[in-house]
Amino acid sequence: MGYFIGIDIGTSGTKTVLFDTKGNTIASNTVEYDMYQPEIGWAEQEPEDWWKATCESINNVIRRSGIKAEEIKGIGLSGQMHGAVLLDKEGNVLRSAIIWCDQRSSAECEEITDIIGPKQLIEIAANPALTGFTAPKVMWVKKHQPEIFEKIAHILLPKDYIRYKLTGEFATEVSDASGTLLLNIKERKWSKEIVERLGLDMAWLPEVYESHIVSGKVSKKAAELTGLKEGTPVVGGGGDQAAGAVGNGIVKKGIVSSTIGTSGVVFAYTDKVTIDPKGRVHTFCHAIPNTWHVMGVTQGAGLSLKWFRDNFGFEEKTLGMLTDTDPYVYMDKEAEQAEPGCGGLVYLPYLMGERTPHLDPYAKGVFFGLTAKHRRHEVIRSILEGVVFSLRDCLEIIEDMGIPVEEVRASGGGGRSRLWRQIQADVFKKDIVTINSAEGPALGVAILAGVGTGIYNSVPEACEAIIKRINVQHPDEKVSGVYEKNYRLYTQLYPALKDLYGRD
Ligand code: XUL
Repeated sequence: MGYFIGIDIGTSGTKTVLFDTKGNTIASNTVEYDMYQPEIGWAEQEPEDWWKATCESINNVIRRSGIKAEEIKGIGLSGQMHGAVLLDKEGNVLRSAIIWCDQRSSAECEEITDIIGPKQLIEIAANPALTGFTAPKVMWVKKHQPEIFEKIAHILLPKDYIRYKLTGEFATEVSDASGTLLLNIKERKWSKEIVERLGLDMAWLPEVYESHIVSGKVSKKAAELTGLKEGTPVVGGGGDQAAGAVGNGIVKKGIVSSTIGTSGVVFAYTDKVTIDPKGRVHTFCHAIPNTWHVMGVTQGAGLSLKWFRDNFGFEEKTLGMLTDTDPYVYMDKEAEQAEPGCGGLVYLPYLMGERTPHLDPYAKGVFFGLTAKHRRHEVIRSILEGVVFSLRDCLEIIEDMGIPVEEVRASGGGGRSRLWRQIQADVFKKDIVTINSAEGPALGVAILAGVGTGIYNSVPEACEAIIKRINVQHPDEKVSGVYEKNYRLYTQLYPALKDLYGRD
């Protein structure tokens, strides 16, 4: 019997999962770390924290499963996308990583658009310059920290830093590289034109692989630190969204996923490069050769609920601790007591600016329609509803692009909540499906490792064998009507408030 490991370097922690070849979870462990916000809109993490969490979680998983390290046939890496990890020529980290939700680089986005030209950017990188992406973050360092910029010898994405620590190789793969703004999306290779015109160096960029290809082997040193066997193959893997899509079977037309993690994402497969001319949804390479995907991203999905939990959820946290239960379970119970529509209370989840559909790093969160009659449970429920409204914005753009949406698969931490799934069914007016595994990105990259090491012939074949639908929730017409009213109000709030948000 062989096993595969999927590692997901997330924003709140690193999750390592051991699977058998049928995709069953044998052992799983998550080790958390902090995100630092030195200024409003900034977000940084320490690459060394990711590495420590990776070592600890791999050790835990191997120990708890009782299997031998040599039975692990391959490893796949997934992770938060877009972060800039800068290394010097000795491979040392030069500064904290500036991560995906950091919004400091609006000026650099304008500069990039001026240098490359808006039309060429879309033609080559398939996307406009957005603060979320990697290139603007590197350009910010160039302008504000020249003493660091001049020492750069390698630019890596978060999961690819972990690959470097595991294997010694500087490598990435197409799905995550797509989110740098430096990849030619059609050709699936670095764009020399963009890189050089921005004053960056092609030599700083890692080798780009297709996602299932073996990119390196576990080194002796990493084997000692993790408990893995030296020489275990590590495949390309995927950015967390493409990897999660594989883990949810989003590998053919008609099935889309709606993922509520820290961010919220609606993800659709395409067999050709399909671009929203307004750049409101991203067009990236999928983790399957010759395929692409379109995704709409809301910055503050699970992040919104976590913000409430951390600042006002003392009661749920205490109950959770006393009963060894996730505090979100208690928050869900409370939200269930509120009526759908929350008596007109509407939440805008723009705590970290917003990507789809507004592309506005300065957008801010709002509770609109609050009255003395509102109770705490309505505030919690309005957060769940507001996040789903933002996902509906994403879904509508995808459908308007002519991409068919026949089935929506819920995933991510938020997908575990029956209530949050039902809100999705009612707001989207579509069936919401769950599948037999909730491991998303970790399963996705374990599947890629299975393909890369020859257990499966292709990603769609592996998904067909492993992923099964287990539950469907249908929309309730009456409730959908209530949400429709609130959603219409929701769509009017951002345009009304846009000019009032501070922009410096
Ligand atoms: C996708 C995105 C987020 C991060 C963190 O574009 O920015 O999904 O990958 O999860």
